[in-house]
Order: sequence, then C-alpha cells, then structure tokens
Amino acid sequence: MAQKKGVKRAERTTRKPVTPKIIALVNMKGGTGKTVTAVNLSAGLTLLKKRVCLIDIDAQCNATYHVGIKAHELEVSVYDSLVDPTVKPPIINCNGLYVIPASLRLAGIEQKLPAHIEGFFTLKKNVVNKLESVFDFIIIDCPPSLGIMTLNAITTATDIFIPVQTEAFAERGMYQLARAIKSYKDSNPDVVAKISGILFTRFDKRKILNRQTVLRISEKFPDIVFRTKIRDNVSLGEAPGFRKDIFSYKPDCYGATDYFELAKEVLER
Ligand SMILES: Nc1ncnc2c1ncn2[C@@H]1O[C@H](COP(=O)(O)OP(=O)(O)O)[C@@H](O)[C@H]1O
Ligand SMILES: [Mg+2]
Repeated sequence: MAQKKGVKRAERTTRKPVTPKIIALVNMKGGTGKTVTAVNLSAGLTLLKKRVCLIDIDAQCNATYHVGIKAHELEVSVYDSLVDPTVKPPIINCNGLYVIPASLRLAGIEQKLPAHIEGFFTLKKNVVNKLESVFDFIIIDCPPSLGIMTLNAITTATDIFIPVQTEAFAERGMYQLARAIKSYKDSNPDVVAKISGILFTRFDKRKILNRQTVLRISEKFPDIVFRTKIRDNVSLGEAPGFRKDIFSYKPDCYGATDYFELAKEVLER
C-alpha cells in the first residue's frame, strides 16, 4: 500500500480549520471488533470525503498492520511521542487515510507514564493536540483493557463507541464498562467524552441469542445504539491478513455494505 509521510501542503492551505470528532473504540473484552471497526469506519469516512486520522494505541499493532504498515520496521511510532513530548507524532498517509501507527513497545508504556491523572492526559497533550486542525475525525483503536492507554483515549475523546459482539456475557461486560467509564468521569470532571455509540458486531440474525442481546441492549440504550449492525462476514475476518480495508479487499461483500452504512450513520449524528 502506498505510504506518503505528512499532510500535503496544498491540502493544508485550502481547508478551513476544523474541530474534529474524536472517537475512541472501547471494550475491555478482546475480539469484539474494535480494530476491524476502527479501520473500516475510518476507511468508510474517508470514502465519504472526510479527513480521518486513525491512531493505534494497542501494543498488538493490529490496526497498524491492517492498513498495511509494518509496525516492526518503523523508526517512530505513537510510543515515541507519548514518552517524549519533543517527538512530533508520526503520520503516514495510507491512500488518503492518515495513520499514527503503534509499536510493540507500547506493551511497556505503563512503566513510562505516571499512573495518575497527569499520565492519562499524555495522548491528548503529546499527540492529538499537536495534530494540524485538518481532521474531521480522529479514531482511536484501544487495547482490550481499561489500562493506562484506554484511559488516555477516553480522556482525549469526545465520543466513546463500544463495539459489542452479540453473544453470552456481552451485556454484562458492557454494563461493567459503562459503570467504570462513569466512575472515571465522575472523579475527573475535565473528561468530556460521552458513550455515544453502541455497535453490534458479528451479528447473525439466525442466532436467537444474537437477536435477544440486540433487543435487550437496544431497549436499554435506545438513543445510542446504531441502527446499522455489522453482520458476521468471512471477508471481514480475512481482510486484516491481506492488509487491506474491506472496501479495497472486497467492495461488494456484506462487511463493506455494513461499514459504509455505519460511516453514513456516524455522519448523520
Ligand atoms: N463482523 C465480523 N465478521 C467476521 N469476523 C470478524 C468481524 N469483526 C471482526 N472479525 C474478526 O474477529 C477477530 C477480532 O476482531 P478485532 O476487530 O481484532 O477485535 P478487537 O480489536 O476488539 O480485539 C479478528 O480476527 C477479525 O478479523
Ligand atoms: Mg484490537
């Protein structure tokens, strides 16, 4: 995949400064579709002519690899800007989607950042606030935990989207997460992020449990559940291995349809 560094100068000057919507994809559970959503929602919004910056803060670097960047070959990643405020956040242009890549070194970030509120503002101060005001959306792919990096994402975000896989324990996990986010916000009034989107992923309408989970969560949170559900789709599972977003990999599959609908729904909100 073609990669160009930096935002082009011509593009910089022709656009008015914008205030971005900053979306963190959060769920403590792994495998709920955070990364697949971060990449394909970003790609869908880019297709809809929005300027998007995807930030990968997971030490697994799945979003970074998914867009075609070899994390292990990078000299600079988000990690370097987090631990050293003089390092400009590295931005890689992946076919119109701007990506700040992760590094395996993020696995050791807990030892590098202060484990109190000051340390939770590092992503905002050292990375997001340093980006030029050209992005309509900043989308943050979080690790599967409520550790220091996810707390940094929540502290930076305007919006929290929770991808929920429609199966056993999903509901309980979601309520626990919502309570944990509320208590973090209650003790840190500077944190403005709202849980503004619940996205059902890997949905299979033939499964009673999937339908029941959707129904119960939708009744409880009618205002924030996305009407677009991401169906279980083989191509969505394959695309990361081919280092392509779903629109480049299989533009006609269900997964591409669903993520394009989601991107449109996000724009409507
Ligand atoms: N809608 C879907 N249909 C089929 N496979 C999916 C779907 N969403 C995600 N996957 C696959 O499930 C796995 C976990 O998804 P991922 O987005 O990496 O989860 P997370 O980032 O929450 O840990 C990946 O292998 C991914 O390719
Ligand atoms: Mg992930």
